[in-house]
Amino acid sequence: MTLEQDAPMVARSRARELTVVDVVQETSDSVTISFDVPDEIVDDFKYAPGQFVTLKIPSDRSDQVARCYSLSSSPYVDDFRLEIGVKRTRDGYASNWLCDNATVGMRMTVLAPSGQFTAKNLDVDMAFFAGGSGITPVLSLVKSALIAGAGEVVLFYANRDLESVMYGSQLEQIAVEFPERFSMVSWLESERGIPTAQAVAEILRDHRGAEIFMCGPAPFMDLVERATVECGVDHSNVHREVFQSLSGDPFDTATLRRLSDDDGVATATVYLNGDCISVEWPRNTPLLDVLLSQGHNAPYSCREGACSACVCRLVDGEIDMVQNNILVDEDVQDGERLACQALPLTDAVTVSFDGL
Ligand SMILES: Cc1cc2nc3c(=O)[nH]c(=O)nc-3n(C[C@H](O)[C@H](O)[C@H](O)COP(=O)(O)OP(=O)(O)OC[C@H]3O[C@@H](n4cnc5c(N)ncnc54)[C@H](O)[C@@H]3O)c2cc1C
Ligand code: FES
Repeated sequence: MTLEQDAPMVARSRARELTVVDVVQETSDSVTISFDVPDEIVDDFKYAPGQFVTLKIPSDRSDQVARCYSLSSSPYVDDFRLEIGVKRTRDGYASNWLCDNATVGMRMTVLAPSGQFTAKNLDVDMAFFAGGSGITPVLSLVKSALIAGAGEVVLFYANRDLESVMYGSQLEQIAVEFPERFSMVSWLESERGIPTAQAVAEILRDHRGAEIFMCGPAPFMDLVERATVECGVDHSNVHREVFQSLSGDPFDTATLRRLSDDDGVATATVYLNGDCISVEWPRNTPLLDVLLSQGHNAPYSCREGACSACVCRLVDGEIDMVQNNILVDEDVQDGERLACQALPLTDAVTVSFDGL
C-alpha cells in the first residue's frame, strides 16, 4: 500500500470514551479514579500490570491537555475496572483539575493502556522502589506478582510523611495476606530524612537476582539507579518509570508528521500483535504514523519521544530517532527504538513490537 504524503490520515485511534464509576479521596492531595470498561472495548483496554493510560483533560486555555496516569489496578484482581491514582502537582493543571472535578458518571476520553514498565515473568523475585505517587504502577505490579506469580516481593516505599502515603491500608492488607512472600520498608522523610543510598543498597544486596522496578521523583530514582550500579545489578533487570507531563497532543492522529526533508521511500517489515506486515515507509515520516495511517494498531501515547509506549526492537537495518527523551544508552544498545521518532536510515528495516 502506498502512503500519500498529503492524504488525510485514516488512523485507528486508540482513544475511547470511558465513564468514571468511582472517585475516592486517597490522601488530602490525591484521589483514586475508577473507570468502567464496557464489554465491546474490553479487548482494546486489556493491559499489563505497570502500564498507564492517557487522559484528555478539558481546558479553557488550550481546549485540552493530555496527561498520562499509571494504572494502580491489576488485571488479575480488578477485572474490567481501570483505576488511576492522581496526586496534585503544585501549580499543576491537569492533576488539580482531576482532583477537583472528577465525579461519578463523568465521561472522559482515554487512550488505551500502553507502556513498558511491565514484568515479562511474574514468577520471579521482584524488588520495588516507589516514591510518593510513583506507587501507582508499583501497586499494580505488586498485587499482580503476588496473586498471579510465585516469587518473593519486596517494596521500599518512601513518602514525605504518614499523611501523604497513598494506598497505605491496601498495602497493609497485602502484607497480612502474603506474609511469606511480601515485605515492605516504609520510609517516612518526616522521621528519617530523605532515603539513603545505604538503605536502598541493603535491599538490593539481599535481592541481587531480582527484577528491579523504580518509580518516583527524579532524585529518588537517581539514588536507586546509582545503588543498582554499585551493587552490580544487571541493567537488563532494572526498570524505570518516569512521570512527566506531555506537551504534544497524542489525541490528534489526523496529522501526518514530516520529520525530515528526505522524500525517498524505504520498506519496513513489522512484527505487530502477532502478525508480520510489510509497509512502504516514506523516509520523512515516523514509523508510528505510517502504521497508524494504514490502520495498524501500533501502541503509542505521547508521540513526542517521551514515554516509551511505542518502543519496538530493531531486528535488521538501521533507524534514526529524531528525539529520544526516555531510552537510556543501554536500551538503545539492546536494539530498542521509539517508533514515534523513527526514520529509516537503510532501504529495508525490520522491527518487532512483539516479545520485547
Ligand atoms: C507514564 C506516566 C505515568 C504517570 N503516572 C502518574 C500517576 O500514576 N499519578 C500521578 O499523579 N501522575 C502521574 N504521571 C504524571 C502526570 O502525567 C502529570 O505529569 C502530573 O499529573 C502533573 O500534571 P499537571 O498538569 O498537574 O502539572 P504540570 O504539567 O506541571 O502543569 C503545568 C503545565 O500545564 C499548563 N497549564 C497550566 N494551566 C493550564 C490550562 N488552564 N490549560 C492548559 N494548560 C495549562 C502549563 O502551561 C504547564 O505546561 C505520569 C506520567 C507519565 C509519563
Ligand atoms: S509514543 Fe511516547 S515515546 Fe513514542
